Amino acid sequence: MTVTTKPFFSYEEIEATAAYIQQQTSHQPKIGLILGSGLSPLAEEIEPADYIPYSDIPNFPVSGVVGHSGRLVIGELADKTVLVMQGRSHFYEGYSMQHITLPVRAMKLLGIEMLIVTNAAGGINSNFAAGDLMLISDHINMVGFGGSNPLSGPNLAEFGPRFPSMTRAYDRELKSLAQRVAAEQSITLHEGVYMSLAGPVFETPAEISFFDTIGVDAVGMSTVPEVIVANHSGMRVLGISSITNVAIRNPDTDAETTHQEVLDTGKIIVPKLIKLLKEILTKI
Ligand code: HPA
Repeated sequence: MTVTTKPFFSYEEIEATAAYIQQQTSHQPKIGLILGSGLSPLAEEIEPADYIPYSDIPNFPVSGVVGHSGRLVIGELADKTVLVMQGRSHFYEGYSMQHITLPVRAMKLLGIEMLIVTNAAGGINSNFAAGDLMLISDHINMVGFGGSNPLSGPNLAEFGPRFPSMTRAYDRELKSLAQRVAAEQSITLHEGVYMSLAGPVFETPAEISFFDTIGVDAVGMSTVPEVIVANHSGMRVLGISSITNVAIRNPDTDAETTHQEVLDTGKIIVPKLIKLLKEILTKI
């Protein structure tokens, strides 16, 4: 697969993306959902639904990663009208930060007010087990420390300010709603800090020990850029990580993290995550 990308997208280009999506559906979603690796079965429950392949949408990044279907599913889920990204593109595929977050800006133009992001993540907190869920309380933009931020470059003031606050990147009311629903459903929902790395490599044991020290609970290769762009344009955000594997701390072990393990555990978590998300949607 070839990857064509650019560092910046103009307001008019994002408008063209949103306009194409608008033409393909009569639904008017206010809630967006981004489904991470292996989590796409949730979108199968949307009924009635319009399906739009990413490859048909102007400017849209198309993921070539196994486990990521590439289409928008727009329709009704748990009594709400939603726009679901069944799969996402990643920085490690060669797309720019602005390109992987262009879908979030298109959502904003389509009238989306609230973004629910999910991902597969490695558990750093030693209380976490593979198969657990973690509510994202806050994040660390590790990739941003190296200078790659989706808001770098000319600021599009139509979306938001030059220097946006990230103090409450994850909406407090949505976090407490998620905790309330999890408690009602007797689902264990840890809460913690998610850190994004560029990938595509998994972490070394020395890196894991460093992340543990700086207060990271779970680590992954997505989500943070999308959350930054969503916050910039004033969307409320809820984030949930599926802990698909736990960090390996011993460099002399035979164990290793694999993408297959991430996908396999993701499948086991899906029913629990679907149950939780549907009830959250019902109560929003
Ligand atoms: N590290 C980074 N990204 C991931 C992991 C991990 O262990 N598991 C799923 N995505």
